[in-house]
Amino acid sequence: MDEKSDLMEKIISLCKRRGFIYPGSEIYGGLAGTYDYGPLGVALKNNIKNSWWKKFVDNREDMYGIDAAILMNAKVWQTTGHVDNFSDPMVDCKECKKRFRPDQLDNKKSCPECGGAFGIQRNFNMMFATQIGAVEDSSATVYLRPETAQGMFVNFKNVVDSLHPKLPFGLAQIGKAFRNEITPRDFIFRMREFEQMEIEYFVNQNDWQKYFDYWKDEILEWMDSLGIDMNSVHELEVEEADRAHYSSRTVDFEFDFPFGRKELYGLAYRTDFDLQSHTGASLNDLSYLDETTGERFVPHVIEPSFGLERSVLALLASAYKEDGVDGEIRQYLAFKPAIAPVICAVSPLLKNKPELQSRAREVYGMLKQEFGRVMYDDNGNIGKRYRRQDEIGTPFCIVVDFDSLENQTVTVRDRDTQKQELIKIDELVNYLKSKLV
Ligand code: GAP
Repeated sequence: MDEKSDLMEKIISLCKRRGFIYPGSEIYGGLAGTYDYGPLGVALKNNIKNSWWKKFVDNREDMYGIDAAILMNAKVWQTTGHVDNFSDPMVDCKECKKRFRPDQLDNKKSCPECGGAFGIQRNFNMMFATQIGAVEDSSATVYLRPETAQGMFVNFKNVVDSLHPKLPFGLAQIGKAFRNEITPRDFIFRMREFEQMEIEYFVNQNDWQKYFDYWKDEILEWMDSLGIDMNSVHELEVEEADRAHYSSRTVDFEFDFPFGRKELYGLAYRTDFDLQSHTGASLNDLSYLDETTGERFVPHVIEPSFGLERSVLALLASAYKEDGVDGEIRQYLAFKPAIAPVICAVSPLLKNKPELQSRAREVYGMLKQEFGRVMYDDNGNIGKRYRRQDEIGTPFCIVVDFDSLENQTVTVRDRDTQKQELIKIDELVNYLKSKLV
């Protein structure tokens, strides 16, 4: 096994063992392209989403949140071209009937599973279709949204009419998207059900280049703040032939995942494609009146698009570390404290001393109330507790010992340096807050 696939195996195994990510529907043999998040995975995902929402929505005056329905009128997807164009080429093996994407076959001329011959290459639409209501005919077909973006375009007029935002302004949404990927793979990298965090930023056409560059910087700044290893991030100017049908310019932010350099996020100049298309098909006027100039026009759109699962995977790959402690290999996740699923774990030095237990419980209660993401851990000896917390990326382990009873201090051990400091109990909250910036 080479070093990189070894790293991937270690990450997948740690995620399962410690309650981050489990295979979807596992007790029934799984469901390809789906994963379930365990307690620590949910916490990590929520921290990423909260960081994104804080930076891009709450901390700005020009951004408006949306939470649109996953099921949308099928006309949305006919209008945007997804019904006709949202497809990947695929080939079937004539023998074992397995399906493959030709671009993922590394020029193999026969089936990698059984050596059988391939049939003719066809296009496969990646939208999941379902029926709405009791009548099973084509008029009842709806699709699970393959991108969150359209939930924002169809609400453009609603937001303009109800909140009267001034251009430039953006709509932002976090939510599920579904794609019937032919070959879901690489753990949570290519899934059939995943989450997106997207922004549609509406600008005057004359300003699109300026805002494209601006959003490029914003994306990079957020990635860095999250703790993604920026040495592994690369910008790729996407060639016209490889761009989505709606985009006049796309820059992909690629990341050196353990299985290779692949797309992490995308930034697209969608022009006025979506608003114009919806205007034409819905007969609703989706133009904007600039009150200062009196000019009415259809805004153009810059779209920063972030995959949540790919953020989780890039963070896990960035944070995973190993070193040697007491002759053993220590595995740990060097998450930034603000992103770590658990900020700190509180332990009594000895489990069988009631006075230490009750003081530790008090310290835990105080921190739990303040930060929420706090764990009480009195299993095994202190060394084992440290190893367990290191593995899930807890930045601080707080130990209540006999000094705590006399001097009102606790020992705070740092995950990365393994150094310990004495902190007064009544200064603990401020100490931890100062680490969460
Ligand atoms: N609205 C634009 C759009 O959906 P995209 O490049 O198809 O563009 C945006 O998707 C982001 O969504 C990607 O950069 C990636 O982070 C994430 N993504 C796309 N397909 C995915 C999949 N099958 N599994 C996990 N994440 C995916």
